[in-house]
Amino acid sequence: MQKTAPPATYRVKSFGCQMNVYDGERMAELLSAQGMSAAPDGADADLVVLNTCHIREKAAEKVYSDIGRLRREDGSSPLIAVAGCVAQAEGEEIMARAPSVRVVVGPQAYHRLPEMIERARAGERATDTDMPANTKFDVLPPRRRAAASAFLTIQEGCNKFCTYCVVPYTRGAEISRPFNDLIDEARKLVENGAREITLLGQNVNAWRGEDAGGTVISFDDLIRSLDKIPELQRIRYTTSHPMDVTDGLIAAHGEVTKLMPYLHLPVQSGSDRMLKAMNRSHSVDSYLRLLERFRAARPDIALSGDFIVGFPGETEQDFEDTLRLVDAVGYAQAYSFKFSPRPGTPAADMDGAVTAAVMDERLQRLQAAINRDQLAFNKASEGRRCAVLVERNGRKPGQWLGKSPWLQSVHFEGESEIGAMVDVELVEAGPNSISAKRI
Ligand code: 5AD
Ligand code: SF4
Repeated sequence: MQKTAPPATYRVKSFGCQMNVYDGERMAELLSAQGMSAAPDGADADLVVLNTCHIREKAAEKVYSDIGRLRREDGSSPLIAVAGCVAQAEGEEIMARAPSVRVVVGPQAYHRLPEMIERARAGERATDTDMPANTKFDVLPPRRRAAASAFLTIQEGCNKFCTYCVVPYTRGAEISRPFNDLIDEARKLVENGAREITLLGQNVNAWRGEDAGGTVISFDDLIRSLDKIPELQRIRYTTSHPMDVTDGLIAAHGEVTKLMPYLHLPVQSGSDRMLKAMNRSHSVDSYLRLLERFRAARPDIALSGDFIVGFPGETEQDFEDTLRLVDAVGYAQAYSFKFSPRPGTPAADMDGAVTAAVMDERLQRLQAAINRDQLAFNKASEGRRCAVLVERNGRKPGQWLGKSPWLQSVHFEGESEIGAMVDVELVEAGPNSISAKRI
């Protein structure tokens, strides 16, 4: 087969979690370092990387429809690479089902993308779903660009094996990136314009490090070290597991002023019976006690969580327990999903499937409760004064968009710039955003 011309332009499309967004940014930087440039919006790209998500069925199905849509009018296709968690879990199937895909690369192997593209150009189809510990971070080019609010992956993988979840299989075992590398990357992000850093990990608070002398550094020590970077204004982290919450982390919320008053702590269900079947290693009560301690350390903390409805065996009573938990917590924001049986996970083979109609109905009731609380939380912020970190221009001229400390979307008008911290008064709250005026 004849060698094709090297791709000059690329597009990376990321789906799924923020860790995938981070990986997508790193892949783009890697391709740029190879001399390619990002295709302008709307233009065809020579190389398209689909950075996929496998967490729920719908997310995985999307890959195939996306591949189909990449065919151009003249019947040709860009060079297609499938990356991310679907690549990891279903690499062979993708290669068999989609002949136009030339490269399949898992989330721990994407540093090898340039050589794989080279092989694809030579007519081969290249697959790499290895999980070499840590190496991608060792060889990726240094960070060159940063948004005002930037992501930093500090931990990957999962050892918890919740019975519904594919992550331990697609992202592998828990690993923590070395402390010094993280401080260096954070400094680079800040030099390049970041004012807020969100630390990312599937179990971000399971992060553990060592200093040069071999002394263990905890997750809250890492936060305290980042707090000392002068130009950095805000620190956030997501997503955390109740089992890895430490006294130090709770205390940090009361002590580290740059650590924002926001906590995403998934619970999944308000029924102990379901939590046990999910292998969650916490109870409803122990979860609520943790939240109480966070609130004692930081009374204004905004709480967020994840829920699954329709897990196998979930009864109306179990579901009502979930609604009761939502009522008890008063989340500022929360995510809820219908159970999706993932191939290879224990829950996929459990008895007691909940019908689609019941799942739909429960999801609606749960989302109504969550939306009610989200609006109430936003309404309660009216009149509050706070700083907003400006992230982008609004749709109207002179309008700016940013985030409050509680991760609410805030818009205001007047002179400003991206990356500025602006003092505002929150004026009128809707379910998803709040209008503010400068003070
Ligand atoms: N079905 C439905 N939701 C799931 N999640 C993870 N796996 C599944 C699944 N198989 C949800 C959980 C998790 C979030 C990232 O996605 O709520 O916290
Ligand atoms: Fe999706 Fe999980 Fe992979 Fe993130 S880690 S992209 S949520 S499957």
